[in-house]
Amino acid sequence: MRLDKFLSVTGTLSRSEAKKAVRKGRIFVNGASVRASDVEVDPDTDKVVFDGKVIEYRRFTYIMLNKPEGYVSATDDARERTVLDLLPDELRKFNLFPCGRLDKYTLGLMLITDDGELSHKLLAPKSHVEKSYRFKSEAGVSEEDRNRLETGVYIDGGYLTKPARLTLDSEGASSGVITIREGKYHQIKRMFEATSNKITYLERISFGPLTLDKSLSRGEWRFLTPEEIDALAAAVEKNN
Ligand code: URA
Repeated sequence: MRLDKFLSVTGTLSRSEAKKAVRKGRIFVNGASVRASDVEVDPDTDKVVFDGKVIEYRRFTYIMLNKPEGYVSATDDARERTVLDLLPDELRKFNLFPCGRLDKYTLGLMLITDDGELSHKLLAPKSHVEKSYRFKSEAGVSEEDRNRLETGVYIDGGYLTKPARLTLDSEGASSGVITIREGKYHQIKRMFEATSNKITYLERISFGPLTLDKSLSRGEWRFLTPEEIDALAAAVEKNN
């Protein structure tokens, strides 16, 4: 791969910036200052350093975002702000997209990536990837409703939801954590509606092996660690 391409796909520098940086002697490959931005580098074995910082090559980009309210889970939208608007411009040039959807007023863990294959597998029903949400509801959840939500309820259209898990903050409480393994449109809201209750707060706190990083404020993001990326791949491997 050409050095300027390497620098651009890693979100480091645009091709024209790379040219200037090379001219100023700011880029080293395997310890030697490079003289042209079109030299070939092997992303897997060569060590590329820009301004003293080693540039890690990632074939795909994986981002954890703490989604705030008011943003839609889309790549672009004529009227609404999208979760991609929360990322810096240098990342916008990748073909990033949100892996799955959170409603406009749902908060919390959102995975954003350009890895279509992994994303597809993570969302495939046969992968059974668990998603947990902290919720608050208008009314308390009775033992009977908890059983119904856990066993399966009919949401409109006649779909019977798959088994879920519910942990209430205390017996009969109106808040707790619900874990589901599927992702129908407005699923949790519709499940609660099926028990004549209403969700008033919803925050995703985990997605498969990922848990929401508490150091991220709403609207903040970070790259996934190599361990988190491996854990995601392992989570889908067994069922695909
Ligand atoms: N279920 C919902 O109702 N909304 C979400 O955003 C996610 C799950």
